[in-house]
Amino acid sequence: GKHIKIGLAGLGTVGGGLWSNLERNRDLIESRSGIRLTIPMVAVRDMAKAKAFGVPADSLTTNWQDVTRSEDVDIVVELIGGVDTAYDLVMDAIDQGKVVVTGNKALLAERGAEIFKRAGEKGVPVFYEAAVAGGIPIIKALRESLIGNHVTGIYGIINGTSNYILTRMTDAGLSFADALKEASDLGYAEADPYLDISGWDAAHKAAILASIAYGSWVSIEDLHVEGIDGLSLSDVHYAERLGYAIKLLSVVKADDEGRIEVRTQPSLIPNEHILASVSGVFNAVAVHGDSSGESLYYGSGAGQDPTSSSVLADVVDAAYAVDTHQRGPGFVPHGHYGEVKPIED
Ligand code: NDP
Ligand code: HSE
Repeated sequence: GKHIKIGLAGLGTVGGGLWSNLERNRDLIESRSGIRLTIPMVAVRDMAKAKAFGVPADSLTTNWQDVTRSEDVDIVVELIGGVDTAYDLVMDAIDQGKVVVTGNKALLAERGAEIFKRAGEKGVPVFYEAAVAGGIPIIKALRESLIGNHVTGIYGIINGTSNYILTRMTDAGLSFADALKEASDLGYAEADPYLDISGWDAAHKAAILASIAYGSWVSIEDLHVEGIDGLSLSDVHYAERLGYAIKLLSVVKADDEGRIEVRTQPSLIPNEHILASVSGVFNAVAVHGDSSGESLYYGSGAGQDPTSSSVLADVVDAAYAVDTHQRGPGFVPHGHYGEVKPIED
């Protein structure tokens, strides 16, 4: 098949998953897509950790510009996380005309308007399926499958770490701290787990979903954010006794006058509601469309393999886009902020 070369920045939980899953399924992907994917260049911070993955030494660099500037790279995959360096890296890749894949929700929520503006000017597609809800193809669903709908609302559980912590506290009586440690050890939590437990990671994802549904970016200051960090074991157990599960719920809604609200907060979900049974690292996102009605997307919300599955799907889309620079059939968020007027409760 056609040979497309990936430059990978970041070989941690998700980047490492991309490397190993591509090693395992390279032939399968080629047989289905007609594209042979290789990773000739990998930027890391720690060479010793990277060698454990079996990356050849001459493919490794500690300077990310070796990836964005390499003539031997068609697609740049950003999986270093954080906002500042990741922004410079993604903008440089766009400026070099490389097709970009990222799983970085903090980056897109904080600077997505600038990134998509530049990407639009340069005609470079940016793919970001892994940024929301790990292995669930929610971005593709919203931008492609539901493109013919006015989205009237989105709600769901979109932080795997918080849901894992709440589940372990409820089912196993673990303390908050012990449950968080498990989530980090399993590769679910962010490098800075404050983002998970404060609600900000879910809020970033909700902002991305809102930007696709309503066409303009919601600024960070307009997000309502509460996390699970104030909850104790007795809170989850009282809720359970009363017939509820506590879930970190994110809600995006718009009214008829174009006002948008994006909220993330711990919420009491009645046990008979479908979201109450979403446990562990699983996520679920419900989307209301004016013609589709409600559709629900459920699956693994974090972790190495599910997330790298989404990255790999983006890489294949990106590979098709290398020559054409077509972004695929779906809607792409505009490179500007909309006027977000909060809906009064
Ligand atoms: P990790 O911290 O495991 O991996 C990031 C890797 O990038 C680390 O190995 C880090 O090195 C390396 N790195 C950091 N800065 C640089 C740099 N300047 N140059 C080269 N390498 C660098 O994070 P994850 O893999 O979990 O997350 C990566 C991205 O994916 C984040 O944006 C995250 O939000 C997103 N994501 C994560 C999910 C998950 O389940 N884990 C799910 C969905 C999205 P070092 O190890 O030395 O710090
Ligand atoms: N830390 C995130 C979570 C990773 O727990 O949901 C997936 O985006």
